[in-house]
Amino acid sequence: MCDAERRLLANALLDMSNEWFILLSESCIPVYNFSVVYQYIMKSKYSYMGAFDDPGPFGRGRYNHNMAPEVNISKWRKGSQWFEVNRKLAINIVEDVTFYPKFEQFCRPACYVDEHYFPTMLTIQSPNLLANRSITWVDWSRGGPHPATFGRSDITEEFFKRIHEGHECRYNDQPSSTCYLFARKFAPSAMEPLLRIAPKALGF
Ligand SMILES: *[C@@H]1O[C@H](CO)[C@@H](O)[C@H](O)[C@H]1NC(C)=O
Ligand SMILES: *[C@@H]1O[C@H](CO)[C@@H](O)[C@H](O)[C@H]1NC(C)=O
Repeated sequence: MCDAERRLLANALLDMSNEWFILLSESCIPVYNFSVVYQYIMKSKYSYMGAFDDPGPFGRGRYNHNMAPEVNISKWRKGSQWFEVNRKLAINIVEDVTFYPKFEQFCRPACYVDEHYFPTMLTIQSPNLLANRSITWVDWSRGGPHPATFGRSDITEEFFKRIHEGHECRYNDQPSSTCYLFARKFAPSAMEPLLRIAPKALGF
């Protein structure tokens, strides 16, 4: 998974006009129009890579001491793979030969590389460029190992209020309520109602 993501970044870096790199999947959608998304990312001091220190078994519990000294447990981070990085961080990721072999060798199930590699290596290399949060909204409230998937009957204006409102985060070191620019996961059956509701609920 991380190899594939690095290849995507390497390819996108070849276009010198690309300044920011956002990883999304076919089940993600934007929840604001292009200019809102563009301004939000362009004016941000930080890149939106989720990175947090989880002291429990699914966080620090996955650290392997053989990763030291390159990776110290105090810098071990967890995050979702739905990131946004600037050119500098994208280059860090693509050119990495320091941390890659450690993760390749020592982050094996139940350690999941896509949940730890980029958040951890960027926390070590460029901590002051990270917002440490993702801008992709995901619903884990139903519990279990997978987040909720939304289909045709979920797509209502109230649903998008849930995504747009009631969040608190920091944007450029100030409190903000605009925390998510993208959302997931949407099933193919959501497509038609999404296209219908978009002009009113999403502004595009
Ligand atoms: C990890 O970092 C802490 C604090 O910086 C230090 O005390 C500790 O010795 C380090 N551990 C390893 C294995 O390098
Ligand atoms: C993100 O976390 C790192 C340490 O892991 C910290 O140095 C950095 O200041 C944090 N970013 C923000 C915006 O607080």
